[in-house]
This record gives sequence, C-alpha cells and structure tokens, in this order.
Amino acid sequence: MTLDPSQLTLEQKASLLSGRDFWSTKEIAEAGIASIVLTDGPHGIRRQKGDADHLGIHDSLPSTCFPPAVAIGSSWDPELARAVGGAVGEEGVAFGVSVVLGPGINIKRSPLCGRNFEYYSEDPLLSGALGAAHVIGLQAAGPGASVKHFAANNQETERMRVSAEVDERTLREIYLPAFERVVKEAAPATVMCSYNKVNGVSASHNRWLLTEVLRGDWRYEGAVVSDWGAVSDRVEGVRAGMDLEMPGSNGTTDAQVVEAVRRGELDEALVDASARRVLQLAELAYEATDELDVDGHHAVARRAAAESVVLLKNDGVLPIAGGKSIAVLGAFASQPRYQGGGSSHINPTRVDAALDEIRAFAQAHGSTVDASAGFTLEGADEDAGLALRAEAVAIATAADVAVVFAGLSDREESEGFDRTTLMLPEAQVALIRAVAATGTPTIVVLSNGGVVSLEGWHDEVAAIAEAWLLGQAGGGAIADVLFGAVNPSGHLAETIPLRLEDTPSWLNFPGEQGHVRYGEGVFVGYRHYTTAGVPVRYPFGHGLSYTTFRTDAVEAEVVGDDAVDVAVTVTNTGKRTGKHVVQVYVSTDTGPVRRPLRELRAFEKVSLEPGETRRVELRLDRRAFAYWDIEQHDWVVPAGEYTVQVCSDASTVLVEERVALAGDALVCELTMESTVGDWFGHPVVGPALMAGLTASMTPEQAEQAEQNPDGLKMVESMPMQQFLVFTNGAIPIEALEQLIDLSKAPVAVV
Ligand code: BGC
Repeated sequence: MTLDPSQLTLEQKASLLSGRDFWSTKEIAEAGIASIVLTDGPHGIRRQKGDADHLGIHDSLPSTCFPPAVAIGSSWDPELARAVGGAVGEEGVAFGVSVVLGPGINIKRSPLCGRNFEYYSEDPLLSGALGAAHVIGLQAAGPGASVKHFAANNQETERMRVSAEVDERTLREIYLPAFERVVKEAAPATVMCSYNKVNGVSASHNRWLLTEVLRGDWRYEGAVVSDWGAVSDRVEGVRAGMDLEMPGSNGTTDAQVVEAVRRGELDEALVDASARRVLQLAELAYEATDELDVDGHHAVARRAAAESVVLLKNDGVLPIAGGKSIAVLGAFASQPRYQGGGSSHINPTRVDAALDEIRAFAQAHGSTVDASAGFTLEGADEDAGLALRAEAVAIATAADVAVVFAGLSDREESEGFDRTTLMLPEAQVALIRAVAATGTPTIVVLSNGGVVSLEGWHDEVAAIAEAWLLGQAGGGAIADVLFGAVNPSGHLAETIPLRLEDTPSWLNFPGEQGHVRYGEGVFVGYRHYTTAGVPVRYPFGHGLSYTTFRTDAVEAEVVGDDAVDVAVTVTNTGKRTGKHVVQVYVSTDTGPVRRPLRELRAFEKVSLEPGETRRVELRLDRRAFAYWDIEQHDWVVPAGEYTVQVCSDASTVLVEERVALAGDALVCELTMESTVGDWFGHPVVGPALMAGLTASMTPEQAEQAEQNPDGLKMVESMPMQQFLVFTNGAIPIEALEQLIDLSKAPVAVV
C-alpha cells in the first residue's frame, strides 16, 4: 500500500518532488521509500552507468535497438507496437529501470521537425492507437511508461521556450487526442510535460493542461514528470499539478516549495497530492535481473522492421527474382542508419547491414552481388565524389538490377534541430539519377527519420522502398522485403508532399520571435491536402504489396448513441499471402464548423491468404463524428449526414456509405447579441419568428418579401439589437422575449 504523505515532514514531501540525479528519484530510507530509475526510451533502453546526459552523447549499456516510432507508425499494427513495447519493457526489467521514457506521440505537424523519427504519425488516431499499444505492452512487462511530450511539442527549433499558439479546437482535435487515448486506454505510469509553452504558459506549470484536461477531463491518476530541465517555476509547477521535476536540482527547488508553503503561498495539500503520486511511482522499484534475451529480441526487432517498410512504387522489379546480378550501391548499404540522434540513442547489441543480408539472400537465390558506396556520408570533395559515382555507375551498368541505398545521415536530422529542406543530399540524388540512366532497373531504398522529397528522380526509377529508420535488425528486414521473404505491408503514416511549400504549416513553421502560430488549425497533414485539393507525391495511408486486394461494398449501420457499426469485405486477389490495412474515414459538412474533407476514424490490419475473403467489422463511436465546440467546451455531434468511406489511402475512396445521425440536442440560447442569422437559423425560434413576421406584413410587404427571398442576407450578421434600431423596432420586444424563452430548450445542432 502506498505510504500516506501525511506521515512525512514537509521537507521530506518536497524532496520527493525532484530527482536525486540525472536518472533517479530520491529515496527516504527511514520511511522505507525507495529510489527508482527512469531512463530513455522509447525504442530501447538507454541505461547509462557512467557519465549521464540527455543528448545521447555518452555511452549506455548495450540493449536492443528496436525500430523507432517513425517505422512502427508505418506498420499500422497496434499488435506489433504492443510486442515491441513488451520487449523494451523486458529489457527495462533486465536493467532495473522502473520508468522507460516514451513513447513520443506528438503529431508530425511539419515534415521538417528534427524529431519526427521519434513520433508515429501526422494523424492523432493512428498515433494514439500505436502509443497505447506500446504502453500496454511495456507496462505489462513491469516498468512504467512516460508518454511524451505533453503537449504541442512539434518542433525542435526553440523547443525549450517557444510558445505554441494553438486554438482550443485544434488542440482537442489534433494535438491532444493521442494523449487522451493513451491515458484512458493504457494508464501510463507517467506523462512527461514538454519544454515549450502552450498558449503562453510553460507546459511544466500549465494548470489547464496538467490538471483541468489531463486529470479533470481524462481522469488521469498517474504522475506528471517534467522533461529533463523543463521546469521554469517549480512552485507554480506544483500548483499546476507537475509532480516530479527531472533531473535533480540539488535540493534548490525543494527548498522553494517548502518556503512557499511556510509563507502561505502554496497549499500544502497540493504538495501532498504530488508527493502521493511520486510515492505511487516508487512502488515500481526493483532490482536489475541482468537477463537480456539478445537473440530473441533481435528477432522481434527484425519482424517489426519488416512490417514497417512502405513499398511506395514498384513496376514489377520487386521482389528480386533469383539468378540475377545485383548492384548494391550507396553508403547506407554498409553503414546503416537505423535510429535517430539524441536522447533516444541506443547502444545496440548488434547491427545488421543490408549489404551483408542481401549477400546471404543472393547466395541462396543463385544471384551475385557487386557493391560500391557511390557517395560518402561525410561528403567528399568533388573529384572523389565523381570517382565514387563513376564506380557505382559502372557496376550498375553491368548488373541486371541496381539497388541504391539513399537517405539522411545524423548530420541532416536529429533531436535538437529542425531541417530546412526535404531534399536528399545532392550527391545522392546525382547517384540515383546516374544509376537509373544506365537503363538497369533501379530500386531505391530510403533510410530517413523525416520525410524526404522524391522529386527530381521519382519517375526515373523502377521501385522505391521507404525503409525509414528500422532499428538494429533493419538490414535483414530490408533484404526480407527485397527478396520477398516478407510481403511489404507498411503504409504511410505521413504524407509525402510534392513541395515543402505545399505543407500546411509552411508559412508558420518554426515560428518567429518566440511564438509559433498553428495557423493551419485542424488542417494538418492529409486533412489539408485533401480538403484544399493540393496534389501530393504519395498520400497518407499509401503502401503497396506484392499481392492485390479487393474491397467490396461497405455496410454502415447506426447503433445506439450516434455510433455506427461498419462492416467491409476484403479479398486477397493475388498469389501471395499479404497484409491489408482497412482504413475507415468519415466525411461530413454538417455542423457549424469547417471540417476536413475526411478524417481517419478506424483501421485494422488483416492478413489474408491468396484468394481468402474476410469480413472486417469496426465500431465507430460518437467521437468519430464529433467536432470540438468552443462554445460548449465539449465534443458535439451535429445532426445530419455523414459518409463512411473505406479508402486505400487518404485520397482514394474505395467504397462508401451514407448514414444519418440524430446528433446532439444542445441549448442554443438566443440573446439580443445573437445575429439575425442566428435567430432565423434557430430550428425552433426561426420558423416561429418567420411566421410572426409574415403575419404582421401588409399584402404589399408580403409580396415584396416573396419576390426577394434573399432579402435577409444583407442583415444576417447584424446582431438583433442593431437590427431593431435600423428597422424601427420591426419585431416587438415582448415577442422577442418569448422567443428567447423558447430558445432555452435543447435542440439538434445542424
Ligand atoms: C528529451 C526527452 C528525454 C529526456 C531525457 C529530453 O531532452 O526531450 O524526450 O526523455 O531528455 O533524456
């Protein structure tokens, strides 16, 4: 049973509210309170025994480097996320880690964000489903999770002090739902608040965020921990519900907390509440078992990596047939980039290079391999660069098929800074083009944490596999996909745009003078491209397979409280076993706010044998149809028509079905400030007002009104108060008062 904070002195309680050092909390031996270890996370354990840092500079003990979130996001497979979370959790136990920091579930607002490799998606539903699964797997193994970075931490530029200016609807619909889902579904032991400010108030002392939303609306019962060094005002933080400051502050901030209570400026009950939550966390303390399943976890990492590769384009060259001479080109083939730089940097137990794995497959398939780097990751001088490319081109010319490994190095992207371009380094683009120009069918394999542009070479190559950062077993996973040992089933969790200028946050990223305005509102990622009709290279949700699938008509049935049951039948129409992702979106233009053209509301990944047909059933609850209403401060389902669309990606509807929802009944009380449009548009008052007005008209006025049905248009946005002044009191005030009473009854929102 958790110790009651009332049994501790004020000093002891305050001491619990900040770390002992970089990676652990304080113990209070005389009260039997243990110290616990928190460490990164999320795609492996970064347990440092020597010098500590949160930038991935100093070494950590070897552990399995699983695929980072950018890869798992593309798997669209919560079961896989759960398995990876579970394996990370087991390693946490081996190292005696009580809280593994992560997963990071921030939305990829801009493809330029340096930390996108650590985040799942541009879509909150996908991010939340995968994040929750990871946390469930992790926590079932023992350690607690720390879902991060709460909230609106969508860039690295000025991340420690920028103020994210985000309107309430956008926060609720885009930036908060993934956290909400993880909190409600997976009960993470901790939530990590971010460095940045949210609408001017630091996340580390943002009461609205940490107490009203997190604990009030979502009923979160765990502890809030600060990002490392995020605390700017500790006393304000305690008031806001920020429980544990990390790393330690050598007791400085503990003394501030004690002092504030003594002076009567801070309610001791708040210190007790935070201390209670840290005590609850301390129960996760245990000894390291030192038992690491190195081979077993490498195998999990390989399976997860293979499931996450997205086949973007394939003219039939893939999978590579047997008996071929294969040119393997590009530095990443032998120097794999498999994780991002910064706090999540893992010291892997081993690393598979794609080149070695391809050689092994080739041998088994009666194929031969010739390899050349073609470019260097460090950048070579012009002559050396040309020589490298010439060698690669010669090898490609002599081969039946060429595979070019291109991507971004640690120099181009990392935690701590954002990119300024989507382009691959020039030497790589030049290599791809030169190899493709030989006429040898060219396959490009990409290794990158953030989206890169495919322009300038896309049409010249035969196939493109987006292999993201795949963790330590990525090399084997890539070979599995290239040779067809694994049928690719990854789908894009983020759009690949044609131009950086097309991205929705382009004009507002990364902000200026300390502020970043989320001016695109809810129109993030595909919500923008589809609604504004902006063409993209590959839409969110896109991903090819070595087999083909057919989706038959969808059934959608309204059940209960504005929920809809969806059933769809899918068939594997090809010759190989493969996995298909059923993507269900909802489209509507009903209601008082502008909605994205369509939004992902459910998905399921299913494995089908050749010829197999499966009926997939999914439930869309009322939230799938709701928007966040800033007047009600609540989710509202407007009455009206909704289209349930089963899509192969965010731009391609396969089958659809309409449903009509009764929607919510809300009080839309009218006042003299309400506009003429509000009055006439009110479902009950409007018709009554119109009837009264018509009855009071002279025959000439009635005829005039009939001839000019748009007569009210000019005054629609005029408050009733002003309207009365301009019309010499056209409607008697008593009549309006009666109508105001009528407006107090709930009506359907349309
Ligand atoms: C990062 C966190 C990380 C922490 C500890 C911070 O700089 O933002 O994601 O968990 O360091 O390393």
